[in-house]
Amino acid sequence: MLLFLIFPTVTLALFGPQDSVYNETEAKLLLNLSAAAYSTDPTPCIQRTFPSNENTQVATSFSVKCDFVGNPCAGYVTVSTVLQQITVVFRGTKTNSQLILEGWATTQPSSDFYGLGLVNRYFKTGHDKTWDYVQGVLNNTQYANYDVYVTGHSLGGALAALAAPRIVSSGLRQRNQVKVTTFGEPRVGNLVFSKNYDQLLPYSFRVVHSTDIVPHLPGCVKDLSYVPPEGSDGSMPCDPVSTNGGYHHALEIWYPMNMTTGSPYNVCTGSPHDEDFTCSDAAKVYFNDTTLAIWNHRNYFAVEVPDFGKGGCNPTMTFEGPPTTQGIKGLVSSLFGRK
Ligand SMILES: *[C@@H]1O[C@H](CO)[C@@H](O)[C@H](O)[C@H]1NC(C)=O
Ligand SMILES: *[C@@H]1O[C@H](CO)[C@@H](O)[C@H](O)[C@H]1NC(C)=O
Ligand SMILES: *[C@@H]1O[C@H](CO)[C@@H](O)[C@H](O)[C@H]1NC(C)=O
Ligand SMILES: *[C@@H]1O[C@H](CO)[C@@H](O)[C@H](O)[C@H]1NC(C)=O
Ligand SMILES: *[C@@H]1O[C@H](CO)[C@@H](O)[C@H](O)[C@H]1NC(C)=O
Repeated sequence: MLLFLIFPTVTLALFGPQDSVYNETEAKLLLNLSAAAYSTDPTPCIQRTFPSNENTQVATSFSVKCDFVGNPCAGYVTVSTVLQQITVVFRGTKTNSQLILEGWATTQPSSDFYGLGLVNRYFKTGHDKTWDYVQGVLNNTQYANYDVYVTGHSLGGALAALAAPRIVSSGLRQRNQVKVTTFGEPRVGNLVFSKNYDQLLPYSFRVVHSTDIVPHLPGCVKDLSYVPPEGSDGSMPCDPVSTNGGYHHALEIWYPMNMTTGSPYNVCTGSPHDEDFTCSDAAKVYFNDTTLAIWNHRNYFAVEVPDFGKGGCNPTMTFEGPPTTQGIKGLVSSLFGRK
């Protein structure tokens, strides 16, 4: 009774129940910011995305040596004092080294992530090396109650999916003050991590473009009790009880076709939980035919994400369409390669 007498701390509450519903306009906005992380200067993308009267400024940007890729882990944090919101953005790696494939893509979750479950040790290293920059802005008393968006493309999505639960579990923000949107995110942790993540982050979207290969890596443990129907490609769902292997967190938003304006998407709440077998997991991934899967990884909302960002999100830029030939295209270098 009389609960209304308990005054909330003064803040302009940004997030609410509406944020548990996927908002494509917002996802497009965050894709712009994720692309901007590939540029040495995110400002042009930011200016093309936020109206100037919202006064969105870069509070910090960082680029630190991250041994798992032998290249920097980078990103930036914006603050709008008008909207009272913070956006934490991580960049995908730019390396073209084979080490990526030999490293994270085949490595199962093995590092404890602050008591939240096991995560991929390469991503944990990247997280640990960038955490102080994130924490530094969120700790700033001037922004004490600002709600926080966390986003990133590719490996930047993996770093976002580690920073976000830690923001909540370390008490920097409450669970309804953090919202995650990632693009082409790999599996960052195991089932235990996934369950804890879902408890900590009610507002979380993992956008996947068609056959993008990266969300399939590292592999999950397959549910061997499943019998593929006649005529299927033999694809198997993830085992929803195994704590070995990678396991995704909520909530996949799967675009089965392309991502041009008006393209349909699925909200993947089916089973197994967080690895909905009617979404991206449904099709078998052939590692001998990765050309299109890599193109799908690099292209979200009809832009080639790294190039779009490096070009300052200029709306007149044009991009090559999907490849028409099959085959194995240098998997690693074309996933992440420098132009
Ligand atoms: C979706 O996001 C856009 C951009 O941030 C915002 O203007 C709009 O109000 C949001 N829609 C809903 C229903 O929350
Ligand atoms: C993203 O950037 C493009 C190109 O500059 C711009 O036209 C578009 O409005 C931006 N999207 C959002 C949702 O702000
Ligand atoms: C942020 O605050 C926490 C405690 O509130 C402290 O442990 C941490 O060192 C601070 N981080 C930075 C980067 O100032
Ligand atoms: C995108 O997919 C739609 C069907 O959903 C199709 O009509 C359209 O031609 C495709 N666009 C491109 C550029 O491939
Ligand atoms: C890849 O392997 C599958 C299964 O072995 C085969 O059906 C398919 O034709 C191969 N694709 C290419 C491009 O070689």
